Parts: sequence; C-alpha cells; structure tokens
Amino acid sequence: MPVPSHHVTRLVVMASGTGSNLQAILDACAGGELDAEVVAVVSDKDNAYALKRAADAGVPSVHVGRHAGEDRADYDARLADIVSGFAPDLIVLAGWMRILTNAFLGWFPNEVINLHPALPGELPGTRAVERAWHEALAGERTRTGVMVHRVPDEGVDDGPVLASVEVPINLDDTFESLQARIHATEHRLLVEAIRGLVTPSDPDTPSDPDTPPPAESPADSPGDNDELPDDTKATST
Ligand code: GRF
Repeated sequence: MPVPSHHVTRLVVMASGTGSNLQAILDACAGGELDAEVVAVVSDKDNAYALKRAADAGVPSVHVGRHAGEDRADYDARLADIVSGFAPDLIVLAGWMRILTNAFLGWFPNEVINLHPALPGELPGTRAVERAWHEALAGERTRTGVMVHRVPDEGVDDGPVLASVEVPINLDDTFESLQARIHATEHRLLVEAIRGLVTPSDPDTPSDPDTPPPAESPADSPGDNDELPDDTKATST
C-alpha cells in the first residue's frame, strides 16, 4: 500500500520592517518546532531588515514596491501573482504595513493570518503598544496583549481570532520594557498559532475546523489610499 507523501506546510511571510517575528518562524522551522518551511519572504520595503534575515536563512525573498501611479487594486493583484508563484499553504503577515484589499485576499481564502500587538477588538491600527502604554499612564488600562487572527477581508486588525494572550502593563514599565515584553510574547504566540494550523490535532480531522467561509473573489478595490495615517492602517503594528 503506498505511503502518502508528507506535505510540509509552505509559508510565505510578508513583512515591512525588522522581521523579528519572521526570525521566530525561521528558527521554529529550523528547530523542528514547526513542521513548515518558509518558502519566501515578501516585503514592500526594499530596506526591510526582514529581507536580510531571509537571505541569511537562504530563503528566497522579494521586494514588491508600489510603482508610481499604480493603484491599490493593481498593486495587490501584482502582489498576489508574485505570492501565488510560491504556492503557499499559509501567508503570514508579520509586520506587514499595508492594507490588503480583496484584489489580494480574494486569491487566498482562509490562507492569510495577521499578528497584532493588542487584544481582540482593542487598539486596531499602528502604534498599538505605544497607545496602550499611554492609556496605562493615564490610568485607563492595566493590560494589553497580542493576537493572531485570520484576515478574511479588509477589516483593520480584525478577523476570526486564532490565538490571543494578555500582557500586563506594570507600574514600573517604560514603553521600551513593555514593547520588549510584547515582542517576546508575539514571537511565542505567532509560532503557536501557526503550529495549530499546520499540525492536525487528530489525523482524521482538519487542523482548523472552525475556518470561516472564504473571502469574496477578487474585486475592484476602493480608492488608492493605502498609505493611511498611522491610526487607520490595517494589519499592522
Ligand atoms: C510587531 O509588533 C507586529 O505585531 C506588528 O509589527 C511588528 C513587527 O515586528 N504587526 P517585527 O518586524 O516582526 O520585528
């Protein structure tokens, strides 16, 4: 009887910046903690340190910058074409700082996940850690957190939650100490969330039975305003 070949989950990681979360994924794959392989790293920034991390790990990387005059739908369609060329099973947004429209998401239903440094429903948009810290200073909160969620549509840091964890804000925290704790938490939670998707708990059942319905097919996306003000960016810090 033929033995079914083992499929190693193919990850494409999309990152705009430092890529410490990318590094956590690369390390988990290399260490056998994740039964997955990063098959490509994609960045919208040519100077993203994430690209250097990919090169150091021997992983193909590609910078996909937006062309002058290119609208969001065209950029996202071009991006989707490039990403699909790597045949991903899962696309991980790890500090990807552009809003993705359905011109991209529609090609990858149930395959895109995002990391956000806040609890579900809280602090969507960029600078979430900084805003949490300021709210704590003002006596308005004592904790924040980290979540990993699916990206079914253009919602800002919103979508079915795969994993989340609270992070306390201590009285003696500086912004830097809080950020360091958040980052350490992110590195762990992101790997855990990916593991939950690539490792079926029961070999006879899919690993993620609660997956939401697929996103709609690629459609014209609204406007060309993806470089939004800090507080309104999707899938971001
Ligand atoms: C992380 O805080 C992540 O939550 C956010 O952007 C940051 C990226 O950090 N979306 P890094 O580039 O992985 O170090």
